[in-house]
Amino acid sequence: MGQAGHARQILERITPGGRLLGIDRDPNAVEAARVGLAQYAGRAQGALNTSQVVIVHGRFSELGSISAQNGFTPADLVLFDFGLSSHQLDDPERGFSFRAEGPLDMRMDPAAPVTAATIVNKSDVREIERIIREYGEERWARRVAQYIVARRPLRTTRDLAEAVEAAIPRAAWPRDINVSTRTFQGLRIAVNDELGEIEAGLRAALMTLKPGGRMATISFHSLEDRLVKSFFNVESKDCICPPQQPVCTCGHRATLRIVTRRPVRPSEEEIASNPRARSSRLRVAEKL
Ligand SMILES: C[S@@+](CC[C@H](N)C(=O)[O-])C[C@H]1O[C@@H](n2cnc3c(N)ncnc32)[C@H](O)[C@@H]1O
Repeated sequence: MGQAGHARQILERITPGGRLLGIDRDPNAVEAARVGLAQYAGRAQGALNTSQVVIVHGRFSELGSISAQNGFTPADLVLFDFGLSSHQLDDPERGFSFRAEGPLDMRMDPAAPVTAATIVNKSDVREIERIIREYGEERWARRVAQYIVARRPLRTTRDLAEAVEAAIPRAAWPRDINVSTRTFQGLRIAVNDELGEIEAGLRAALMTLKPGGRMATISFHSLEDRLVKSFFNVESKDCICPPQQPVCTCGHRATLRIVTRRPVRPSEEEIASNPRARSSRLRVAEKL
């Protein structure tokens, strides 16, 4: 749901008559969307008790049950827009950004139990290194983890950014992104179990769609995009046995047809008007 930009565009095209279910794990986004989309909250055509817009606080992994409980199964379209909203990123109090000082939080849902501070101050150095290497794709992960542990307790985003700046030799600082970007990304993904959520969400979407219905995903970095690509690849094949195996034993049957062979990238024009769209990639698949 986020700031309801896509939701508004979709509602403009499907109402009257169509219905939209919006899900976000951030209660602030849910509240803002309920207010922002109030003008669409009428009844769907011919359905006395069915609102055109339903907005629910929940996670991608809960899509199956949320959709069924609210009468949206089977659905024509599921759109995932992964990652953070600008609203979350720009609010220092949420602790996502190295640009402004704030608490080391990074939870998309402020009621979730684990914060970035819990991880950097309580986890052992190997676990911190793993998170930064695997989810941040930071090749200096070991040194960054060591510097973090040596400086504990870290309280603010500035403390974390300073640990990263001290750990990575100046000559190795990337030119195109901030030196802290990868570390912050890694921690954020771990705090919110973002990759587990995407996998579970894609599976739930497959169960929720009607045959001929489509799922569309917007990814912002390679870890997200890789998960979608491999899910689409596996689900679009009739057999997933190893290629050297002469006879199929897996019994797997294709459930999806890939619509976008290559991911759709934003145009120069779109990037100029919305620079944060720069790294986005859209993929679409149709349920068989
Ligand atoms: C990029 S923003 C969406 C922006 C939105 N499409 C718009 O047009 O304004 C991503 C949103 O997804 C939410 N989100 C991320 N992971 C989630 C998850 N696993 N379950 C539910 N919401 C999630 C975030 O809280 C954030 O508000």
